[in-house]
Amino acid sequence: MNEHREINIMDQDTGKIRSSQLTRYLRPKDTAMALTALFWEEFELSRAVFGWMPAVKEFETKSQTARFGYLHNRHAKHLYERTSELPGPSLEKQSPPTQLREAFERCSLAPSESAFLAGYGVMLQRLYHNYERLQYKLDPILDAPTLDVLRIILLDRQPMLTGAHEQIFFAGSDDPNVSNEVAMWRSYVEQVWLHVDASVTGKENASLSWPTMPDVEAFGPVPSVSAWNEERFPIHIFNPQYKTAYEDPSMSVLHDSIKQMHYINATEMGAAESLCYLYYGAQQLPKPFYFDLARHLWDEVRHCQMGIRRLEQMGYSTSQFKYFKGSPGKGLQDLAAEWFPDMYASLTMVAEPCSFIKKRKSAEQFWQFDDALSAIQCEFDMADERMHVDFGKTWGPELYKQINKIITAAEMSERMRIRRVEELGAAATEEEAKTIAKNFPGFCGLSTVELNYTKY
Ligand SMILES: [Fe+2]
Ligand SMILES: [Fe+2]
Repeated sequence: MNEHREINIMDQDTGKIRSSQLTRYLRPKDTAMALTALFWEEFELSRAVFGWMPAVKEFETKSQTARFGYLHNRHAKHLYERTSELPGPSLEKQSPPTQLREAFERCSLAPSESAFLAGYGVMLQRLYHNYERLQYKLDPILDAPTLDVLRIILLDRQPMLTGAHEQIFFAGSDDPNVSNEVAMWRSYVEQVWLHVDASVTGKENASLSWPTMPDVEAFGPVPSVSAWNEERFPIHIFNPQYKTAYEDPSMSVLHDSIKQMHYINATEMGAAESLCYLYYGAQQLPKPFYFDLARHLWDEVRHCQMGIRRLEQMGYSTSQFKYFKGSPGKGLQDLAAEWFPDMYASLTMVAEPCSFIKKRKSAEQFWQFDDALSAIQCEFDMADERMHVDFGKTWGPELYKQINKIITAAEMSERMRIRRVEELGAAATEEEAKTIAKNFPGFCGLSTVELNYTKY
């Protein structure tokens, strides 16, 4: 039996709904189109959330925000993979639909963390509503592979809704001015999506213009200076007396111990924050770049979490150490385009490869000290970092290409090492810098600080 009913599908080219199929069944290309629409929602949500991470003040909310960004990105990756199995235009060749990107950017310009989170809750509910609507249109046999993908994605629905709900309350305030501002922002976000939905379905009386943005100053996303501000996580102020920050004795109470490795991990929120700026700022790179970058970013948050957890388990308090922010100190519009590839290359071509030696030695030595958890942490850290270096080899040259500079992975690695040697003032001439940079272990000795592996 062929049940005739109109099914509305958003056309990716025009952003308009088309309903040419008068059957309840979706053709493969219709399913692909529906998945593409969901892909862009997940992708834009990951961008909004990662963009806000440096604008978040507290460690736990920051970590949770990065987790949300990572999960949205994973969902986008599942949808991307399924879409590529179906007919229709390749997602790789597409950019976010203009109206959708504008809607997410409007909803991102929130006046406070609380306001952003309240708006995020609205967008999350809408997203899951869209998943459910699609789920019940799919044929259990014809669309089984798609239903399997949706089932995996929907496993995160409750944790994400609950997590967002908790953060909204944690960030809440009794101050009536704050509550009013949050309520006003939430209502604005709802109106933005009413406008989007009305214009997509072509409803009569649909307003042609966006709702008026509240007269407030945006606090995020991608603030020029990270908002991280907690007494328990004092921020390091660079002292020119020391060549590298880690040499400064005021940074850590564990300078003379192998446990310093945990402190180094604990400082990785700075690296995660820097990668948020890249995720938000990098436009039109291949989709797998964003999948790898989200994994990299989330790993750095995990490394920070594991470092802090171990230090606290050992009886230290976070306030005995100093930390780094990852913000560039300038707004995105004032930032030289080179900041992005340079930051990424110095992380993946200098800091991460140079850290292997230290991590391997630390793992071996922690086993000697019968500290299994510390040793295993170093082993996971090494496995993750190896992957990050591979990401850097793939995407570093792509990033330089995007700012109209053609560079190979080998040249990029060399350039970063020379720059580091020059910064450290270790070479008298450029030639000497090149010689030091080529001597890899020697170079790492200059770039990082040795640990006292023999003292627990
Ligand atoms: Fe790391
Ligand atoms: Fe890393």
